[in-house]
Amino acid sequence: SSGNVTFDPGFANTAACTSSITYIDGDKGILRYRGYPIEQLAEQSTFLETAYLVIYGELPTAAQLADFEDRIRRKTMIDEAMRNLFHSFPRRSHPMPVLAAGIIALSTFSGDSLGDSPAAIEKATDRLIAKVPTLAAFGYKNSRGEPTLYPDNSLSYIQNFERMSFGYPTEPYHFEPQITRALEVLLILHADHEQNCSTSTVRLVGSSGANIYASVAAGVNALSGPLHGGANQAVLEMLEQIKASGISVKEYIQQVKDRKAGIKLMGFGHRIYKNYDPRASIIKKHADEVLKLKEGRRDLLEIAQELEQTALADDYFTERKLYPNVDFYSGLIYEAMGFPKEMFTVLFAIGRLPGWIAQWREMRSNPKNKIGRPRQIYVGNPERAFVPIDERR
Ligand code: SDX
Repeated sequence: SSGNVTFDPGFANTAACTSSITYIDGDKGILRYRGYPIEQLAEQSTFLETAYLVIYGELPTAAQLADFEDRIRRKTMIDEAMRNLFHSFPRRSHPMPVLAAGIIALSTFSGDSLGDSPAAIEKATDRLIAKVPTLAAFGYKNSRGEPTLYPDNSLSYIQNFERMSFGYPTEPYHFEPQITRALEVLLILHADHEQNCSTSTVRLVGSSGANIYASVAAGVNALSGPLHGGANQAVLEMLEQIKASGISVKEYIQQVKDRKAGIKLMGFGHRIYKNYDPRASIIKKHADEVLKLKEGRRDLLEIAQELEQTALADDYFTERKLYPNVDFYSGLIYEAMGFPKEMFTVLFAIGRLPGWIAQWREMRSNPKNKIGRPRQIYVGNPERAFVPIDERR
């Protein structure tokens, strides 16, 4: 209820739209893309194969996947004039507004992919999937004052992004297969998640007839909030703050329970999962592996594991159905890979991109199936007459 108004229970359950892309059962901790369980896709699929599934609805045949990979491979470069865009941002800019600006800039270099024809939507789909990792890597390199690297078409999609982010023109880049695979699994796990805040934003903006670039850029901005995609960065900041303050995990948990200064256990809780987020379990396994391989912050991993154990043994959290979500361990893996925490939500955006595209296309293919124009329940003043300023008190 809000103030003196009590919502009809049905109001709260009004679905925003119908969709055939992702199924979630929050109580059972089930997540499926087009009917395929996330656990099997994380284990057996690649990110581009999962992106194809999410966007087109079916697992591709070998020929379809080869064609899709080739289309993407041929579009990873960005217009040379876009390099100036990155140079116009201060180096210390947060990479999320830089990414959103880069995607909007793509729409001005998009030629015939702005329209609503099937051909234009196909072309824009390929361009976004192909160029967003390049935009992200270029933005990251620019923030470090380092030279950007062109994509290398002999590499896989994930390897290309890794090399553009961490490589140098002066030497070959050394890949570690387990690290590349962990990054690919993380992106697969983020590919879609039904009507979350950023996806609903993409559908809502697209429902006005705005093009897919404008809609996806709006999704990037929605994702940047610390209660949504920004949580992975907030989790690492929380762990670093616990470490630096020297307080015990028990003391921090007590501060959360006492609601001290509005602090939350970041990476815990979910609007739908009132049980374990199935993605968190998979990510936790990879966190262990990656942190054994890289000089990752095992000290922060240990704090995270102690936080999880302490919270899950405490009624305050279990009564409120607060369990680790997708963001609780993902930041530790990204940090161990070498990404600064400001880049974590950009990685979330790269993973979520196929879902945003698929949901936008689904909404546009059936204009009646849209979030459209939400209504409200008015709780303000009843009608009243205007008061001239000299009579106001
Ligand atoms: C993502 O929607 C999606 O699918 C999103 C996402 C995706 O893939 O797109 O899964 C990605 O956004 C994951 C969530 C990342 N955010 C965080 O980790 C931030 C911390 N979590 C919360 O802010 C919160 O849990 C939400 C916003 C995620 C969910 O909030 P809910 O379900 O609406 O719950 P609520 O805010 O109504 O809180 C219910 C109770 C409250 O206590 P009471 O006032 O009832 O006593 O739980 C408490 C809250 O104070 N609570 C927390 C808490 N989250 C909720 N207390 C401490 N720590 C937390 N993290």
